[in-house]
Amino acid sequence: MSPEHPIIEVRGLTKRYPGVVAAEAVDMPFYRGEIVGLVGKNGAGKSTVIKMLAGAVKPDAGEIRVEGQRVELRDPHDAGRGACRSCTRRRRTCQACRWRKTSSSA
Ligand SMILES: Nc1ncnc2c1ncn2[C@@H]1O[C@H](COP(=O)(O)OP(=O)(O)OP(=O)(O)O)[C@@H](O)[C@H]1O
Ligand SMILES: [Mg+2]
Repeated sequence: MSPEHPIIEVRGLTKRYPGVVAAEAVDMPFYRGEIVGLVGKNGAGKSTVIKMLAGAVKPDAGEIRVEGQRVELRDPHDAGRGACRSCTRRRRTCQACRWRKTSSSA
């Protein structure tokens, strides 16, 4: 895969809950080495998009591609294998951060 192609790409990603469209037809490319900010007002659907990328919420429509290949994420473990992980503000909930902290203090 050439460097100008996105390493991860979402197309048309959509999630509906009863009475609300949480995320509608989201298209986003992510390129290698990029730091991307997802900005929007309260309730815009930011967390929903991240949850879909992290395998915690199943999209109703759209697709996620990793290195050009369409992936179906059944759960967060699946997403982690494809290199999509969600790390919340609470660093202690992130296994990788906890491991790093433990190993550097040893
Ligand atoms: N599990 C759920 N069940 C029902 N509605 C939901 C659920 N999760 C999110 N929503 C609704 O979907 C919309 C988008 O929510 P989301 O949490 O993704 O927005 P957000 O941009 O992260 O908001 P915030 O800035 O407040 O964190 C909101 O109207 C929210 O109430
Ligand atoms: Mg949120």
